[in-house]
Amino acid sequence: MKHLVSIGDLTREDAISILDHASELLTLNMQANKKLPTLQSKTVVNLFFENSTRTKISFELAAKRLSADVINFNASSSSLAKGESLKDTAQTLEALGADAVVIRHPSSGAAHNLANRGWLTAGIVNAGDGTNEHPTQALLDALTLRDAFGFAKGEGLDGKRILIVGDILHSRVAGSNLLLLPLLGAEVVVAGPGTLTPQDSNFRDLDHALQMQPDAVMMLRVQRERMAGNMFPSEREYSKFWGLSAERVTKNPNIIVLHPGPMNRGLEISSRAADGSGSRILQQVSNGLAVRMAVLHRLFEGAE
Ligand code: CP
Repeated sequence: MKHLVSIGDLTREDAISILDHASELLTLNMQANKKLPTLQSKTVVNLFFENSTRTKISFELAAKRLSADVINFNASSSSLAKGESLKDTAQTLEALGADAVVIRHPSSGAAHNLANRGWLTAGIVNAGDGTNEHPTQALLDALTLRDAFGFAKGEGLDGKRILIVGDILHSRVAGSNLLLLPLLGAEVVVAGPGTLTPQDSNFRDLDHALQMQPDAVMMLRVQRERMAGNMFPSEREYSKFWGLSAERVTKNPNIIVLHPGPMNRGLEISSRAADGSGSRILQQVSNGLAVRMAVLHRLFEGAE
C-alpha cells in the first residue's frame, strides 16, 4: 500500500489484514516494552491544518512506537501564514527527509492531491479531508465493533447492522464508514435531521430509527464549524429528537455505543450514554493507536 487516502483504496482482504495486524499490536501496547524497530531511520510528518487531539497524538505515538522520527507541523506558525501553498509546503518537508506525510486538511481532496498529482514520492495518509473521508477512523471503528461483537481475526462484521446518527452531511467519519462497514459485510442505516442526512434517510427521530434494532449505534458530532447557518431549530430540539439518552440506551440494552469524538455532551449524546456499559468510546481511542501503527507499517511495506 503506497498511500491510504480513501477506504476505496482497500479490498476487504486489505481491511481485514490491517484489523488483524492492529489486534496483534494491541497486545504489544499492553507490554512493558512497547517499541518495535520497524520504521527505524524513517521520518513521518504530521501535517495538520485543522485541530485534532486523538488522530494527531495517536499518529505521533504510532510512529514513535515503530521507532520512526516524527515531525509535528504546526500550520499556524509555519510559512503558510506568508502564503506558501500546500504543494510547496509538502515538497519542502519531503526535501527535509519526510518518508510519509499524515495530512489533515479542511478541503476535501487535499490528501488525494498530495498522493496522486506527482508532487511527492512520500507515502500519504489521509487523517481527515474536509467533509470527505477519515479512513483510519473507520478502521478503528471497525476494529472496535469486531471486538465488541466477538468476531475473530480473519473475520469482518458480517450480518451486523450499524446505525449512524446525526450530522451525516458534514461527517468524513460517516464518509469512510459508509464504504468500510459494507465492505466488511455489515448493513449500515443512517438517520438524522432531514437537513443533515441524505434523502433516502427518512426516520422521524432516533426512537424510530432504533426500531431497526441495530447491533451498534455510532453517534456523530454536530459540526457547527462547517455549517453556514442554522441546520436545525435548537440544540434542545436536536437533543430531544436525535440525542442518545440513557433512556434510549436502556430500551436497547445490548446496543454498542460509538462516537468518534470529540463529543458534544448533552447535544448528540448524554453523559450517561457516553459513559455507560455499552459505550466503547475510549476503546475506540485505544484502538486508534494500534490501527495507525498497522497502517504506517503497511505503508512502508508497500513502498519497499
Ligand atoms: N475522531 C477524531 O478525528 O478526533 P480528533 O479530531 O480529536 O482527531
